[in-house]
Amino acid sequence: MTAVGIHDLAIATAHHVVGLADLAARRDVDPGKYLVGLGQESMSFPAEDEDVVTMGAAAARTLLHRTGADGVRWLLFATESGVDQSKSAAVYAHRLLGLPPSVRAVELKQACYGGTAALQTALGIVHRDPAERVLVIAADVARYALHSPGEPTQGAGAAAMLVSADPALLEVEPVSGVATADVDDFWRPNDASTAVVDGRLSVSAYLAALKSAWDDHRARGGATASEIDRFVYHQPFTRMAEKAHAALARHVGLPDGERLGSGLEYNRRLGNTYTASLYAALAALLDGDDALAGRRIGLFSYGSGSVGEFFTGVVRPGYDAVRPRDEVTRALAARVPLSVDEYERLHAARPTGSADAVTRRVTDGPYRFAGVRSRARRYENTA
Ligand code: HMG
Repeated sequence: MTAVGIHDLAIATAHHVVGLADLAARRDVDPGKYLVGLGQESMSFPAEDEDVVTMGAAAARTLLHRTGADGVRWLLFATESGVDQSKSAAVYAHRLLGLPPSVRAVELKQACYGGTAALQTALGIVHRDPAERVLVIAADVARYALHSPGEPTQGAGAAAMLVSADPALLEVEPVSGVATADVDDFWRPNDASTAVVDGRLSVSAYLAALKSAWDDHRARGGATASEIDRFVYHQPFTRMAEKAHAALARHVGLPDGERLGSGLEYNRRLGNTYTASLYAALAALLDGDDALAGRRIGLFSYGSGSVGEFFTGVVRPGYDAVRPRDEVTRALAARVPLSVDEYERLHAARPTGSADAVTRRVTDGPYRFAGVRSRARRYENTA
């Protein structure tokens, strides 16, 4: 069977950053709760001329500069922060990226699981015709109400992946385990710009989905825990990955050893990026360890509502030369800090309507949201 998987991966962040020590001071919370209890140091926050289209296209631009777009027939865009009920974010990104009309463009949604749904769909497409390649974009803005328990777990960013035969980064193995259950743990109604969440239930639903997806993975002949060298988890906050790994270790009777590697490093600073979170964790793992060639990685994706999936991949030889290993660290360091006052103003001002408006230029990214004209969103290529 042809090896199919992730050929290259790029991560983009939003323009701004909010420090969680500053937020804790303003909320009169011990900073240890955010920094240690949740395992979060900062959160990326979008400028007013950024959204999932601009961040997703920025990640894809970095990726396509390295890989080119030859053979790409699909652009699958996963998000739960969609900008329109009908037109996909993929079509906007398709134009910004200058892709040819012969590339299909479509959006997928199931909370944070959408990125993995897009990846699995892409793998199936490439298995059908190994000459085709699929561009997967996962981008989100995690928004909770000010002063809510979810507030320190916000974030914003994007991942772009090229899925192909004979991949250079990670061969994804065909067996995976899935757990779908109708749970009201987290959702965002059509008339709301912030998520509705039952925090406790969401944590227990995540852990239940992990165990159930793991059991399905094993029942289908997937690798045992001792055959998996590193684990990466969806990270709404990085402590969640540690809790998940400990729960899985108990479930399978493994010693709860350190097998998370460097996978928490980017999300600790990005915050929750929903669909992109697992893939930012994968990037952090690959960037932080140069001895992973031939190693098997277990990946757990969770999207509230809920769908969980556990799958595995084997790291390809030469993976460490595919992408600049300081690319994400540099992007994180270049973010422009917001004071808590500025963050609160920007949070409240987030445009949600379709009335005509011109958006101020703030981001220095390659694409920007220029505003609404004739009730349609306008994007500009600024690079
Ligand atoms: P909370 O209830 O305010 O926090 O919010 P807490 O009281 O549970 O404290 C958090 C941790 O900090 C605890 O650690 C405390 O002990 C510790 P734990 O006991 O759990 O290990 N702590 C301290 N540690 C050190 N020094 C201190 C200190 N004080 C306390 N001084 C909650 C937590 C997760 C509920 C909240 O952040 C929230 O609602 N977040 C949003 C929902 C969420 O992220 N859920 C995660 C699972 S669902 C999911 O992953 C899907 C999602 O990404 C959405 C999607 O799929 O689209 C969210």
